Amino acid sequence: MTQPIESGGLPDQHQQSIERAAALLAESRYCIALTGAGISAESGIPTFRGKDGLWTKHGEPPLNQYEEFSADPAAWWGRVAERRRNPDQLTATIAEAQPNDAHFAMAELERIGVLKHIITQNVDGLHRAAGAECLTEIHGCTTLLRCIECNSRTPFDEIPEVFPPRCDQCGGIVKTDTVMFGEPIPPDCLQRCYVESSQADCVILVGTTAVVSPAADFAFAVGQRGHPMIEVNLDPTIITQYCAVAIHDRAGELMSRITAEVKQIKTAAAN
Ligand code: APR
Repeated sequence: MTQPIESGGLPDQHQQSIERAAALLAESRYCIALTGAGISAESGIPTFRGKDGLWTKHGEPPLNQYEEFSADPAAWWGRVAERRRNPDQLTATIAEAQPNDAHFAMAELERIGVLKHIITQNVDGLHRAAGAECLTEIHGCTTLLRCIECNSRTPFDEIPEVFPPRCDQCGGIVKTDTVMFGEPIPPDCLQRCYVESSQADCVILVGTTAVVSPAADFAFAVGQRGHPMIEVNLDPTIITQYCAVAIHDRAGELMSRITAEVKQIKTAAAN
């Protein structure tokens, strides 16, 4: 038993679960992660569900967003340009948000070779900003544009001069990378998630209700093969009952303490 990490604001009730989660991560051969809006909550970005969630407060957006885009991409780009010129509160919050301790802790788990891949449902780019590189943004990213034909991605630095913009590679129509309701998940993302999930022997889910497919399916598939699932989430979810370890509190400090514990285990094993 390693020395308990000095805890900050969290009750020591979690210490045993933190050590169990760290042991599972440290002994895994190929651990992946699924993250959701909850990992960015401490960066000031609201979640979707739960008592203060965006969907809870304002209802889910229309499911025909992609249909609207497909019907008239030029008009759709006109609305995007307008929103870009006059961003709403959420857009401004995401643009100004910075990674928090949970993002940095997961980037550190990647750096020490424990976390092999992160599948994130978030479009805020905060994992990448924290230094994570082995990453699939399965719902896209607000800072990128994507061609709907060849999937090539380019930075979304300024409003295009022509609506809709066309891909330099193939001439296809270019849209924002963020996946809309009704839009197929880009095939390159699906393929990468399938490959990563298929070879994983451990999965940690951080800040997600795990109710949206196909993202959640890639995590479930690891558990269905008998490998451990670890949940780090403020509230219990539908996956809690399937997890080897489930710790319900804020991801920032939990992930920092889990990562510190993993590094202690790895150091002890190396000596
Ligand atoms: N630390 C850890 N977990 C937190 C924190 C926190 N500080 N704050 C909130 N949470 C948890 C909530 O308890 C909730 O279970 O994060 C979870 C967020 O769940 P959702 O709001 O459902 O977000 P997510 O799981 O990412 O949703 C998946 O749904 O609408 C789509 O495209 C959208 O990518 C999104 C997908």
